[in-house]
Amino acid sequence: MDLVDSEYPIVGAPMAGGPTTVALAAAVRSAGGFPLLAAGYKTAEALHDELRQARGIGGAFGVNLFVPGSMPVDEAAFRTYADELAPEAASHGLELDPRPVLDDDDQWPAKVAVLLADPVPVVSLTFGLPAARDLAALRRAGSRVLATVTTAAEARAAADAGVDALVVQAPAAGGHSGTFDPYRPLPPVHGAGALRAADLVREISAAADLPMVATGGVADARDAAELLHAGAAAVAVGTLLLRTDESGASQTHKDALADPAFTETAITHAFTGRPARGLRNGFIERHESTAPFGYPALHHLTRPLRQAAAKAGDPDRLHLWAGTGFRAARTGPAADVIRKLAAGL
Ligand SMILES: Cc1cc2nc3c(=O)[nH]c(=O)nc-3n(C[C@H](O)[C@H](O)[C@H](O)COP(=O)(O)O)c2cc1C
Repeated sequence: MDLVDSEYPIVGAPMAGGPTTVALAAAVRSAGGFPLLAAGYKTAEALHDELRQARGIGGAFGVNLFVPGSMPVDEAAFRTYADELAPEAASHGLELDPRPVLDDDDQWPAKVAVLLADPVPVVSLTFGLPAARDLAALRRAGSRVLATVTTAAEARAAADAGVDALVVQAPAAGGHSGTFDPYRPLPPVHGAGALRAADLVREISAAADLPMVATGGVADARDAAELLHAGAAAVAVGTLLLRTDESGASQTHKDALADPAFTETAITHAFTGRPARGLRNGFIERHESTAPFGYPALHHLTRPLRQAAAKAGDPDRLHLWAGTGFRAARTGPAADVIRKLAAGL
């Protein structure tokens, strides 16, 4: 059986926090791609509702989950960081809650239960590997389980755990890295020591004998073809879909991706406590060197500020997740993005 059930080996990458909508999944599907819904941050009930809506899109789709695993946070460092952010929050009329929320995992069993009761052909995972019994249960329910990996060692661990396939995520990718070790600095995308997506695919195909979806930094069909040529069975695109009509990204985020004031992306943990790639903005400049690590504590700390910034059209204080290919992201129907990629393969 093919890794993804679609006409073209192109996957609409899952983008939690708003960008991935059922409409976006439907558009990707209609153009012959394979959509992954994003269940991260959602309650089990919201996932259940979304699955019900997505059953209407007329084709197969998958679901992506964040694997539980809270990072510890140094409470004193967290309070100091909350103090540091206080003036930023005040500029939006907010006071941030300095008590760290350390655990986000209570919804995991219920989300797995939703997917066991109403299985989808593909379940992809990020932020590590789940308990063996959950992995086995999802597979028994008939889902192919894909683990996101960023190194050959993670790929071997995923293969040993018994996943069906890998999402090989290069450091060029927009949004959170799926790295199993959030404290590990990610390799650069340019210059000395740079890790190109195609090279990572080749390295991982030598380390683990599993089919791969390659992702990270794809800006056009040439990039996608290179990853397929390197050994990937399919290619996933995220950033390329962010500005499309069906994307639920905030208008502030969409506009920033096309704003010449933003010239590059950077890896940051200042917004959520885990490394993620976004447009380099003032918030990253001001706080990257002082922010402690700790997901989901920092995610919850900064969320009200980010929500307010998105609403107010303030891209300086918003997490503007973007991969290195962000300049190629266009407005218009998402189906056009998939068709254009497919035409060039
Ligand atoms: C806004 C945004 C949100 C994301 N959310 C998720 C997510 O919920 N789960 C996940 O596995 N990956 C997530 N990612 C990473 C993508 O699935 C994918 O790895 C990445 O977009 C590929 O790189 P590209 O953006 O350069 O195409 C997100 C990426 C972006 C840009």
